[in-house]
Amino acid sequence: MDTSELVSCVETATLAPSLHNSQPWRFRLTGDVVEVYADRDRQLDVLDPDGRELLVSVGAAVFTLRLALRRAGRIPEVTVLPDAGRPDLVAAIRPGPVAQPSPAVVELADAIEHRHTNRQPFLPKVVPADVIDELRVAADREGTALTIAGAASRTVITGLGREAERRLRARNGYRAEMGRWTRPAPRRDGVPAAAYGPWDALERLPMRDFGLVHAPRQRKSEVFEKWPTIAVLSTGGDSPADWVGAGQSLQRVLLVATRRHLATTPISQPVEIPGIREVLTDQRAGRFAQMVIRLGYGPPAPASPRRPITEVLSAPHTGNGGTP
Ligand SMILES: Cc1cc2nc3c(=O)[nH]c(=O)nc-3n(C[C@H](O)[C@H](O)[C@H](O)COP(=O)(O)O)c2cc1C
Repeated sequence: MDTSELVSCVETATLAPSLHNSQPWRFRLTGDVVEVYADRDRQLDVLDPDGRELLVSVGAAVFTLRLALRRAGRIPEVTVLPDAGRPDLVAAIRPGPVAQPSPAVVELADAIEHRHTNRQPFLPKVVPADVIDELRVAADREGTALTIAGAASRTVITGLGREAERRLRARNGYRAEMGRWTRPAPRRDGVPAAAYGPWDALERLPMRDFGLVHAPRQRKSEVFEKWPTIAVLSTGGDSPADWVGAGQSLQRVLLVATRRHLATTPISQPVEIPGIREVLTDQRAGRFAQMVIRLGYGPPAPASPRRPITEVLSAPHTGNGGTP
């Protein structure tokens, strides 16, 4: 595989979702290996003091890179956290054997460019059982579990989400951190006003209030769906490797959903308050909650910007040859 093809796969990987669009990743090409690093300067210290969501975000980029390589006709060979002495080296990925991508791989990879976090109200339309099954299988293939909330747990989870949002706002530094990641354009990271979505008029859903600090002049209030489809993504353990695995799984689930024309919103407030995350976790059953996902059918959502490849990739030909 030549360098320009590898660079193009890395560029695709940067389309992965990340907490507040922080894009906390760096890539380095060494020979034909792509090293994926966590960029700790981009960690959200107030919201994510343990760096769990940072590694979930980098994990999402790792999955996207794997899929881009599959689309380019190579089977990726991935080592997660290959060097205990370098904990920020999250993965080393080598393009392995040549293999023609199947139509399913191409379809899933084509969803990468179309997946955007959707914070609009969704239609009152049921997600069919076969689609739900596909999402569960997607999570399972990445060694995680996706649990779709029944009527009672849906009410509990949305309630926990609202309570988490309330507690987060009271956390020292929350507003300032939110302000830093929602500063108005021009910029290539953070959440742009066009992606905030409207207020939930009835305040039923735990939609994150990205307009808390830099409120758009005209923010509409709309009624959100009464019976949202809510899923919880869980892992068997709660180590950094599990967080990277959760990110890979999250992105696979989001892409399968996108391919099936579903709109998606990752909702992480309930897993950002330890006491609330505990309620969603069943340690004895080996289910650590990593993310809540809202699924449904909605209007199109805008793309959020990404930093240019020259900012995130160190490679001989970009002139950024150094260690990230
Ligand atoms: C770990 C993680 C946590 C996230 N938490 C939330 C959240 O609580 N609310 C929300 O609306 N979006 C959340 N997102 C979505 C990001 O804000 C989104 O991926 C980012 O702004 C980039 O936009 P895009 O997904 O449209 O490419 C989260 C994403 C990740 C990976």
